[in-house]
Amino acid sequence: MVIIGAGQVSRELAPVWQKAGHTILQVISRTENSARPLGKLLGCPWTTTLGDAAGALSDAQIVVVAVTDGLIAEVAETISTMISPKCVMIHLSGATPLEALRPPCAVIWPIRSFNPKAGSVPLEGTPTVIEASEAEAFLLATELASAWQGEIAEASGEQRSAAHLAAVMADNYANHMLAEAQEVLHQRNLPKTLLRNLVEGLTQGGLNGDARERQTGPAKRGDETTLQRHRELIPKDMRDVYDSIAEHIAKRHRE
Ligand SMILES: NC(=O)c1ccc[n+]([C@@H]2O[C@H](COP(=O)([O-])OP(=O)(O)OC[C@H]3O[C@@H](n4cnc5c(N)ncnc54)[C@H](OP(=O)(O)O)[C@@H]3O)[C@@H](O)[C@H]2O)c1
Repeated sequence: MVIIGAGQVSRELAPVWQKAGHTILQVISRTENSARPLGKLLGCPWTTTLGDAAGALSDAQIVVVAVTDGLIAEVAETISTMISPKCVMIHLSGATPLEALRPPCAVIWPIRSFNPKAGSVPLEGTPTVIEASEAEAFLLATELASAWQGEIAEASGEQRSAAHLAAVMADNYANHMLAEAQEVLHQRNLPKTLLRNLVEGLTQGGLNGDARERQTGPAKRGDETTLQRHRELIPKDMRDVYDSIAEHIAKRHRE
């Protein structure tokens, strides 16, 4: 296996794959700052130049292109003449089409945040979406993803895009709302941690898949007095957001 891109995701997944028995032939990254530590961690050669990795690339059975999304297609195109026709190309992006790679190829998208602040959420058990160009690439991708022992869902490109949308809504948007809620508390000199029991309940909805059933609050109840009071309290630039979400909650629960 050759790993291209020594960022946050490679730093976590490459050691797991190595432990599962894959030989990492080479780490290639943009700068020495990222390439060297990962090469050292894995005990394998590292480089910042694709040309220096020609031997490893031509021997590799798997190349993982773990670079910034916007560069996946470009890197894949560059290495396509350097790897063997049977080598399986893999990327790890939820939002990038499989077609950014040349077949045989697969996407292994672990639905998890790999930033340092997410360190307390273990990799083990992370659900993974896999899309592959053919059965053999799918089997290989499944074997790689099984290293962290989470649920694996096979998806088409359209399904993977929808799963990415769902992940953005559930994580990025819910987190933004939480950050704004904490700011409301902070502005009134209240502890930002006052919401912790509510957030634990919210998490249960995410874990059990029954978020709709646990919806409560003034928008669901149609409590216009409370909604009006909130409109007066909420930061001005959040008013439209609050109103449109309240309308949407009411609509969903009328259906
Ligand atoms: N982060 C997440 O939470 C997460 C979750 C699931 C999937 N993913 C996917 O995982 C992939 C990697 O994401 P990441 O978060 O690990 O990104 P990242 O931390 O930004 O790392 C990208 C790495 O690619 C290197 N790189 C950039 N251009 C390169 C090039 N032309 N040739 C070789 N190396 C190059 C960078 O090198 P330098 O550091 O030297 O600049 C960096 O080490 C992406 O496709 C992303 O969508 C990310």
